[in-house]
Amino acid sequence: MAEVIVCDSAQQAGDLVAAHIAAQVRACPTFTLGVATGSTPLPVYQALRTHADAGVDFSEVTAFALDEYVGLPDGHPQSYRAVVDHEVTNPLGLDPARVHVPDGHLDGIETAGHRYEEALTSHGGVDLQILGIGTTGHIGFNEPGSSFGSLTRVKTLTERTRIDNARFFDSLDQVPVHCVTQGLGTILRARHLVLLAFGEGKAEAVAGAVEGSVTASMPGSAIQLHSHVTVVLDQAAASQLTHRAYYDWAHQHKPAWQGI
Ligand code: GLP
Repeated sequence: MAEVIVCDSAQQAGDLVAAHIAAQVRACPTFTLGVATGSTPLPVYQALRTHADAGVDFSEVTAFALDEYVGLPDGHPQSYRAVVDHEVTNPLGLDPARVHVPDGHLDGIETAGHRYEEALTSHGGVDLQILGIGTTGHIGFNEPGSSFGSLTRVKTLTERTRIDNARFFDSLDQVPVHCVTQGLGTILRARHLVLLAFGEGKAEAVAGAVEGSVTASMPGSAIQLHSHVTVVLDQAAASQLTHRAYYDWAHQHKPAWQGI
């Protein structure tokens, strides 16, 4: 079962996850971080800046993004390449040559998934993968119905996800229809999964992913198949969990040496 940690705020959750990542990077400067986009991981990236300012050196860290939109022009501010540069690579001082994002260019899109899998495999995989979850239950952009064995490939976004993400664009029409995303099988290869979710709007998806049936209809439930998962929530996102009291009890009694 996943470890579930319920925090008082998104900021507290971000501080907790960032402290763990910073400690890992101190211990292993060539750490490999799987980065997610969307609003949810921002408190983690914000808190990591404090660690970078305090002297944690991220210059040898490798990063792999989960996904990218297909067909946005180079430099589009909502391309996940641009978001990762803006939120992670530049502020933390990562070496841009070590930051990988799936290639969403239309030219060569047929091989984008395969090329990304090769890059991940030849690097040796991801040590810690940060995950958000969509209201459809998607992780990365693996919409309901995605195979648990799926690898990086082109997917079609649901209308729900396009509407959710329209807030980042001028209009719904501008939200791409396709994306390139790590598959659920790709994500499950990462050595530690850290799923964050905040707000009432995520409560149903969180309950489905953490406590519901393991089913392709709820892609987030794939985390139940992984041996090392940490779910970090605020109170609202945890509000539909049945075993909430146990998670709190287990967290309070967790031996400090175990970390997250
Ligand atoms: C996005 C991303 C996901 C993200 C999710 C939730 O579309 N592809 O990686 O976890 O949807 O986004 P947010 O954190 O903004 O709610």
